[in-house]
Amino acid sequence: MFGNPWIFIRGVPSMEFLPPEGPTEIAFAGRSNVGKSSLINALVGQKGLARTSNTPGRTQELNYFVPDGYSGAAGDLPPMALIDMPGYGYAQAPKAHVDAWTKLVFDYLRGRATLKRVYVLIDSRHGIKPNDDDVLSLLDKAAVSYQVVLTKTDKIKAGAVPHLMAETLEKIRKRPAAFPEIVATSSEKGEGIEELRSAILTAIRN
Ligand code: GTP
Ligand code: MG
Repeated sequence: MFGNPWIFIRGVPSMEFLPPEGPTEIAFAGRSNVGKSSLINALVGQKGLARTSNTPGRTQELNYFVPDGYSGAAGDLPPMALIDMPGYGYAQAPKAHVDAWTKLVFDYLRGRATLKRVYVLIDSRHGIKPNDDDVLSLLDKAAVSYQVVLTKTDKIKAGAVPHLMAETLEKIRKRPAAFPEIVATSSEKGEGIEELRSAILTAIRN
């Protein structure tokens, strides 16, 4: 699945524009600028598929990506969709916009029956922040399975990664919907990407 080309199918600005529930959905959540769009590009091996930027607030809709080659007709649905989401936390955009994106993300995470797993991205340099905890609590409450992914490991000392992983795992250990393993990644260097692909394929098959 990750060997084939992927395409963008839809940008969803608010809940009423969500596509009908069909393929298994895997969503990527995290603070603005944590590297969600870059991680999707690394996973599918297509640099320009999801738009990335140095400026927080790049992704402003729920963006749906699917493997190419499916008609979308009943019985010919893609096996999964990857959903890139607006970031939460901060963005250089008017507060009303940021509030609307945050509401969209929270509404989607709470209420989507075909959402199989959420990858919650945490910047290796910053660790879990209070607004990440809010999202984890929301997922726990809604009983939506999620796995924590550390991003941008190339920005910290290689020797610090195991300690950071252990520390982060300890922080989420008691959370009921958390997958009990963490993946450390660098989209820039390709680290952890194959491991994350396997984790996603396992999640959609279970
Ligand atoms: P929003 O859509 O604004 O919420 O951001 P995002 O989470 O989608 O982040 P995005 O992928 O746009 O990346 C933000 C910045 O971080 C860009 O300048 C990326 O090039 C950079 N970045 C992403 N992943 C990595 C990584 O693994 N290593 C390094 N060094 N930089 C990265
Ligand atoms: Mg983005």
